[in-house]
Amino acid sequence: MLKRVLITGGTGFLGKRLGLAMKGTHEVFLGARNNKQNQLAQRFTGCQVVPLDVSSVESVRDALIETKPDIVIHAAATKFVDLAEKFPLECVDVNVTGSANVARACLDRGIGTVIGISTDKAAPPVRNTYGMTKALMERMFCSLDGKSDTRFVCVRYGNVAWSTGSVLPIWKRMHEETGVIGTTGPDMRRFFFSVDEAVKLVLTAIDNADELRGKVLSRYMKAALIRDILEQWIGAKGGSWEQIAGRPGERDDEFLIGDLELPYTREVTYGGILHYVISFNERSESNPKVGLSSANTERLSNEEILALINSPPAADEL
Ligand SMILES: NC(=O)c1ccc[n+]([C@@H]2O[C@H](COP(=O)([O-])OP(=O)(O)OC[C@H]3O[C@@H](n4cnc5c(N)ncnc54)[C@H](OP(=O)(O)O)[C@@H]3O)[C@@H](O)[C@H]2O)c1
Repeated sequence: MLKRVLITGGTGFLGKRLGLAMKGTHEVFLGARNNKQNQLAQRFTGCQVVPLDVSSVESVRDALIETKPDIVIHAAATKFVDLAEKFPLECVDVNVTGSANVARACLDRGIGTVIGISTDKAAPPVRNTYGMTKALMERMFCSLDGKSDTRFVCVRYGNVAWSTGSVLPIWKRMHEETGVIGTTGPDMRRFFFSVDEAVKLVLTAIDNADELRGKVLSRYMKAALIRDILEQWIGAKGGSWEQIAGRPGERDDEFLIGDLELPYTREVTYGGILHYVISFNERSESNPKVGLSSANTERLSNEEILALINSPPAADEL
């Protein structure tokens, strides 16, 4: 019999791609609040959908009763840094209370594996409310592992190219409307990879959940200077760019492994790619000596930047 998977935030950019990737080998349910988006996601992926609001524990319990999953992938989140600064209570309700609700309900029902999706913004030094809420999710999930047979694993990564509300779809709209792209930080550096790589990281966490339980799995990522992406974009598509006012909560560089975490981090290779396993309280014998930040990692080449720019999702996916 196929294993059953519930993806919270299943109608989001990652959730839909996870649904498509897993539906051949699993029975997949996508859970989110907005019923119109639920219907569109069902049509796009061919997966089943279930109404779900993670900020209500009753709603999470109902969704687990309905779907009876073996695996829960917790991707539901409020993820806009500036909105989280302005409306911190909503961010806490969804990302902290919502994650606690998912954890509690999964423990109650003895779910086999729970994967929490985290972000580079959760790595120390944390700069913004969104990052703090995701850091708390990581701590909750990792600390709750071992209390029962439920295996909790988190994955942490940087920007997914073309994801909802990220620079590429925003620039595309600005470029189409005025030919001028406004950017808050041309000198900021950001980690980037494709949504397929994000999906692969989540599947790696599931496949290795026995080894990774109670830990955060991250992986080596390259980064790009925002100015370099803009120049590639304008070189390929024309137009111009201008600097606009910064947004609250932003920082120049991001971290996948913060210096404070180094003693608790070990390196491991999966599928030929360097990954990092972070344990909050267990020291590692063979830890990396330097943290991984968008300042010290390898830069994406112009060809790699162009490949990301030139792979927008279909209109019905956004
Ligand atoms: N995109 C990136 O670059 C990136 C980088 C690192 C980490 N992440 C993390 O990856 C995960 C997926 O991101 P994404 O890019 O797919 O985001 P997204 O496209 O914005 O999707 C977010 C999903 O969460 C759902 N959601 C929000 N609040 C909810 C609630 N209270 N209850 C249930 N569902 C809720 C949304 O649907 P409804 O509004 O219908 O509920 C939507 O399905 C997030 O946890 C994010 O923090 C993303």
